[in-house]
Amino acid sequence: MSIRTKTLLQVAAGAALAGTFAFTAAQAQETVKIGLIVPMTGGQASTGKQIDNAVKLYMQQHGDTVAGKKIEVILKDDAAVPDNTKRLAQELIVNDKVNIIAGFGVTPAAFAAAPLATQAKVPEVVMAAGTSVITERSPYIVRTSFTLAQSSTIIGDWAVKNGIKKVATLTSDYAPGNDALQFFKEHFTAGGGQIVEEVKVPLSNPDFAPFLQRMKDAKPDAMFVFVPAGQGGNFMKQYAERGLDKSGIKVIGPGDVMDDDLLNGMGDSALGAVTAHMYSAAHPSQLNKDFVAAYKKAYNQRPGFMAVGGYDGIHLVYEALKKTGGKADGDSLIAAMKGMKWESPRGPISIDPETRDIVQNIYVRKVEKKDGELYNIEFATFEAVKDPGKTKK
Ligand code: PHB
Repeated sequence: MSIRTKTLLQVAAGAALAGTFAFTAAQAQETVKIGLIVPMTGGQASTGKQIDNAVKLYMQQHGDTVAGKKIEVILKDDAAVPDNTKRLAQELIVNDKVNIIAGFGVTPAAFAAAPLATQAKVPEVVMAAGTSVITERSPYIVRTSFTLAQSSTIIGDWAVKNGIKKVATLTSDYAPGNDALQFFKEHFTAGGGQIVEEVKVPLSNPDFAPFLQRMKDAKPDAMFVFVPAGQGGNFMKQYAERGLDKSGIKVIGPGDVMDDDLLNGMGDSALGAVTAHMYSAAHPSQLNKDFVAAYKKAYNQRPGFMAVGGYDGIHLVYEALKKTGGKADGDSLIAAMKGMKWESPRGPISIDPETRDIVQNIYVRKVEKKDGELYNIEFATFEAVKDPGKTKK
């Protein structure tokens, strides 16, 4: 090879390389990537599907460009297994160079990603998981879902005020179930209530039947139930099969067990259940009516509370990008997210600038039939509730 050819080749290669760099840099500047890690398979799949649906709906409604940046969502299924979550978060951060990780259908998944968020300075937007301590695991975590403490304290007080004296509890045996139990118990027993039976059920594929017999034998006025989104239908089926509805033992709890996406399938045994929660598909605002109509039109089903956590999570990212003028580094985005306020389909919400956790109304609701369908009808509102799990320490 002559010197001249070699030089030309080198020049060509150099130009090609420079071209590649220029292209990559321009792309990196113009695209904001969100790694959406949710369970799309397994026992928690309904959570992932609701979040994925809601994120897609939001992007259809608002376009996929914000502050001059194209938004790209990379969906990954972790099946709610925290080892998967960790591996996927790592791949998304290192290989795909995502600017944000989001989703997290269960608490162990949110925990698993937290050290990576800290290390890489990548915001972790928690759209589903509900254990109080999650936001303390990384300064880069922001939550748009809820905490179990927000709803369980309120239903504990409500039970006391409404003549419920004896309660049996049934909770999923992992972090959010333990939060639900602890905060309910504190408020209910402080008001003079008595816990007559306490059972914890496994998170995966729980068989409720043997526990329900114990509940029935304890003859409580009501049973306090926390099962995660997706399990309420199976729980209520077994509740009815064991005749607990006939024996007058009402279901109370955080609203997860009465998730709107499953409620109609539960049948009349769900009628009268009183739960405290941040979202009902029957929330009477115009914004929610429009949201429910659009979601039903797109997916032929009712949105549940997980859909709303996803819808608000992607909204938070869009608004933060508008505020930073498209700057997508973790510190700028987190600073922009702190203190942000907006109207959600659930009602007015904000991000607590100190804790990065959600501040929202909690509604007490009762299952009623309206136009032949079951709904959680809100009858009392507690405004702008901060996570009680933070102030406790
Ligand atoms: C959680 O794992 O934090 C979790 C999941 C589903 C719920 C509530 C909490 O409905």
